[in-house]
Amino acid sequence: MSSNGDNAQQADYWTSVGGPHWVTEQRQFDHMLAAFSAESQRVLAAQPGEHVLDVGCGTATTTLAIAHSVGETGSVVGCDISPTMIDAARVRSAEFRQVSFAIADAQTDDLLQADPFDAVYSRFGVMFFADPVAAFVNIAAGVRPGGRLVFVCWQPEAANAWISMPAAVMRSFTPNPVLPPPNMPGPFAFGDPDRIREVLTEARWEQILIVPYTADIELGGGLGVDAALQQSMGSRAAQGLREQVDDETYVTATEAVRAALAEHADDEGAVRFTGAVWIVSAIRP
Ligand SMILES: C[S@@+](CC[C@H](N)C(=O)[O-])C[C@H]1O[C@@H](n2cnc3c(N)ncnc32)[C@H](O)[C@@H]1O
Repeated sequence: MSSNGDNAQQADYWTSVGGPHWVTEQRQFDHMLAAFSAESQRVLAAQPGEHVLDVGCGTATTTLAIAHSVGETGSVVGCDISPTMIDAARVRSAEFRQVSFAIADAQTDDLLQADPFDAVYSRFGVMFFADPVAAFVNIAAGVRPGGRLVFVCWQPEAANAWISMPAAVMRSFTPNPVLPPPNMPGPFAFGDPDRIREVLTEARWEQILIVPYTADIELGGGLGVDAALQQSMGSRAAQGLREQVDDETYVTATEAVRAALAEHADDEGAVRFTGAVWIVSAIRP
């Protein structure tokens, strides 16, 4: 399966920049996102024997958690547009017979399997579609009537200082910082809950619930300021900085980010923020 032109840029990013970063830093990301996983999977409530799709599954952390819930009589398919992510996911999941993967663009590729899915889940994997309505129509086509959708996505960047604060420092050193317009594909595309409701309604999902949830985020997996810095310097703001400034300015900017992060370190050195997400659920009629 392959990406159409619309999502080609995202496919490239997640294969050659975001994917390798995510694979290398997988433990830190998982630590940082653990509370959001737990809450969204509580809402999903996958049952033994169910057939579940994990959209934008990345390196399969949530796919494997769902595999535990559905047990050996159930099954989970992880789909992701990035071969880099799926390669890592396959390595981690080799021992799980009920888990399989597809390199697929969830917006355009046929996701329907022999049996339609009972439920679709995503942890931060549905904010990157060029045409979100088309994507949620396509996803619905793989789900049985009455099947459920549960995903977790970020509230607006301004409500998430773990990314907005280091990004603001980096952008202050970047001659032409790129600020993605609201609603463009990216981590904060679903920051506005009205937009989420509009997209899902247009894609004919029903019983839509959008619930705010906040939890502590330990940037860099709680491993201290250096780890938090490393994670921050994998961001898109950092990519923009790297592309636009000379080496000396890049080092100065990196030190400024380090100093700003250090102000958020607790007594044990963990760099702590509050993360704000939406837990979204809906039913396919
Ligand atoms: C922020 S990462 C989250 C990964 C994983 N869900 C996790 O929480 O560890 C977003 C994921 O969405 C995937 N993605 C982006 N656009 C996609 C698309 N159109 N179809 C399928 N996956 C996509 C990316 O490749 C990436 O793995």
